[in-house]
This record gives sequence, structure tokens and C-alpha cells, in this order.
Amino acid sequence: MQTLLCIISKMRKEYNQKKESQILKNLDIYKNQDFSFKNGRIIGSMCTQPLPIAKKAYIRFLETNLGDPELFPGTKEIEIRYISFLKKLLNAPKQSSGIIGTGGTESNIIAIWLAKNLSSKREIIIPKTAHFSFQKIVSLMDIKLIPVNLTKKYHMDILDVKNKIDNNTAAIVGIAGSTELGTIDPIPELSDICKDENIFLHVDAAFGGFIIPFLKKIGYNVADFDLKLKGVSSITIDAHKMGCSAIPLGSLIIREKKWLDKISVETPYISSKKQAGILATRSGAPVAAAYAVSEYLGMQGYKRIVQRCMDTTNYAQKKIENMGLNLITNPTMNILAIKLKKPSVVVYNLTRFGWKVNYMSRFSAIRIVLMPHITKRIIDEFIPYLRKACESAGESISY
Ligand SMILES: Cc1ncc(COP(=O)(O)O)c(C=O)c1O
Repeated sequence: MQTLLCIISKMRKEYNQKKESQILKNLDIYKNQDFSFKNGRIIGSMCTQPLPIAKKAYIRFLETNLGDPELFPGTKEIEIRYISFLKKLLNAPKQSSGIIGTGGTESNIIAIWLAKNLSSKREIIIPKTAHFSFQKIVSLMDIKLIPVNLTKKYHMDILDVKNKIDNNTAAIVGIAGSTELGTIDPIPELSDICKDENIFLHVDAAFGGFIIPFLKKIGYNVADFDLKLKGVSSITIDAHKMGCSAIPLGSLIIREKKWLDKISVETPYISSKKQAGILATRSGAPVAAAYAVSEYLGMQGYKRIVQRCMDTTNYAQKKIENMGLNLITNPTMNILAIKLKKPSVVVYNLTRFGWKVNYMSRFSAIRIVLMPHITKRIIDEFIPYLRKACESAGESISY
């Protein structure tokens, strides 16, 4: 009897192992259809290959739920530490706080939700370069967007901002690293206006938050953009972009912890009394990953990455301009927008050649983002394909 049970148990184990390996093989078939960061063919994404330490940390925390923190006090402590790191990075005051979520969209939603509840007003002044997450916000909330003109350098026009402020203004949004061009709005000027007028200023630094502090350190001339400026009320910053960690991880840092009450509800049947933000159940895995990356890299590590990305950007810019192509604007960060007559055809051609770049209809341009996985060697591989893609689209290029 004992032997029979042993045989059955062994057979079941073998069956399960076979089943598991078949499922994984099938998953690999799907995975192999994807483009990959590793070989550099994704050259138009704001995400990158997470650092190996992120992967190791992530899988250790798969079962954790930050929505029920008393069950996972260790994971909660990691979250507290990660928020402290972001607060230091963004010069946030002591009384500030943070909400960790899934990415820039969620953080922007929470920021506008907060501004609306703090002011009981409905209008949000935004630049025309704002990310489409703000369109979602209009659809989700009873909010009206008031778009502001851009200057020739694609920055928010401060005069137009002043003209658009009225009694219904709930918030002004400035972008520190716009999605399409990487431009930075004049945040110090916006901060002064918002301080004087007592208006909530949200800075969307989903992309630029892990770049701008280090650009300054490597000698680029960029203005302040963070909570050091007294008029800045909140900042979006994403670890799954230039933070080099795993998807999904975005954060919102808020100047005053007490403001969280405006976006909190009571949570009667779980371990915390109140919960702020949108999500309830929330994985601790991406938080552990982002924290591990921040510990691993430290400020020096991020600085090195930004330096490398900017070197690659300058290298790519020269090669592109040498081809006779023009950029929409001189890059502020590691984004190049190439002006073309037929950008969609060029994107189509590049996709056929195995390269993924972005088509930007609004600017008649394509965008490449020089993320940490893009090296000068990859640029050398890419340029002949860009040339070929442009030639066959009939773009004028020099030889
Ligand atoms: C400036 C900016 N804000 C917000 C977002 C939205 O971020 P996510 O895709 O993580 O929701 C992006 C995405 O590219 C972005 O560039």
C-alpha cells in the first residue's frame, strides 16, 4: 500500500513537472514575439531593462500586499524607506508624504484629484505638451483642461499662464521632461505664480524626475523643478522609466502629509484605518525592486547613468544631423525628436527592419529615447537603418 502511494505521488509530481514545463514553453513562444530592451531594438520607449537587482527583489515579494500593511510590516518599512529616498532626491520638506502606485498616469490622476478636493475648483491649466493621462483625468473627473500656448522652445508660455488664471483655477501643471520632446517648463516662474496666487502646482516629472537632479550635477544648465521651490505642491516621478526599475512603479510626492486626508477613505475591515490614493490591493514587489535599485545605485550610480545617456544622446544627435536631418528642438534630456516629411512611413520602414521608434503626428516627427539600454554601438547599428528607412520614404538626406 505504502509503495503504491509512493508510486502515485511520484507519477503526480512528474506529471505536474511536465505540465509546468509545457506551460512555460508556450509562454516563451509568446515572449519571443516581443521586442526586447536587451538587444537595443526598442529605441523609442521611456522604459528600459530593469537592473538585475530589481528582478531579484521583485520575485522575493510576489505575495505581498501593501494595501494591508499590518500583514506585511517589513514590506511597508521598505515603502517608507523608498519614499524617504524620493523625498531626499526631490528636496521635499519634512512634512511631505508620498503615494506609491503604478506609474505616471496614476500619480497625475491623484495629484489632480487632490488639487480639486483642496480647492473645490474645476479648472486645470496645462501646457499643450502634457501627457495624455490628463485627457483621461477629464474623462474620469468633473475637470476642465485649460491649455496654454508654448513658446518657440516648446515651453509653457508664462504670459499665457497668467492670462488663463481665474477664480475657477484648481491647479497648474508644469512638465519636467515632456513625453514627446523632453522639454522642461519654467517651473521656478510657475512656482512664484502659484505661491502668490495660492494655486496648487503639480509637476509631472514622470520621466525627468530621475534625470534633472543629475543633469545639474554633470554640468547641464537646468533650472530647479522640485519641492525646493516653495510653490510646488506635488511631483510625479516614475521608477519604471529612468529609475531603471521594474514595471509598474510610479510615485507622487506631496508637499503636505495632511493633504492626504482629502483623498483618503476609511478602510473598516483591513489593518489600516484609512487609505489614500486609488488602489487598495497593491503589490509590494515593484516597491521592493525600486528600493533595491535605489540602494544599489545610490546618487552616484544614477548620476553615472544620466551621464552615459546624455553622452549617447549627443553622439546620436551628431550622427542624425550629419545625415542632413533636423531635430524639432535641441535636446534638454535623452530624447531626440527628428523632423520628417513622412514620419509614419519612416516608422513603418524601421519596424520592418526590426527597430521600434515612435511616430509623433503632432510634430511630424519620430522620437528616439536614449535609455540606459541604448549604447553608442547600438546607435552605430541603428543609423544605417534610419538612413535606409528615410531614403525609401523619400526624405531628403545628405551623403
Ligand atoms: C511626462 C509623462 N507623464 C506621465 C506619463 C504616464 O506614465 P505611465 O505610462 O507610467 O502611466 C508619461 C509616460 O510616458 C510621461 O512621459
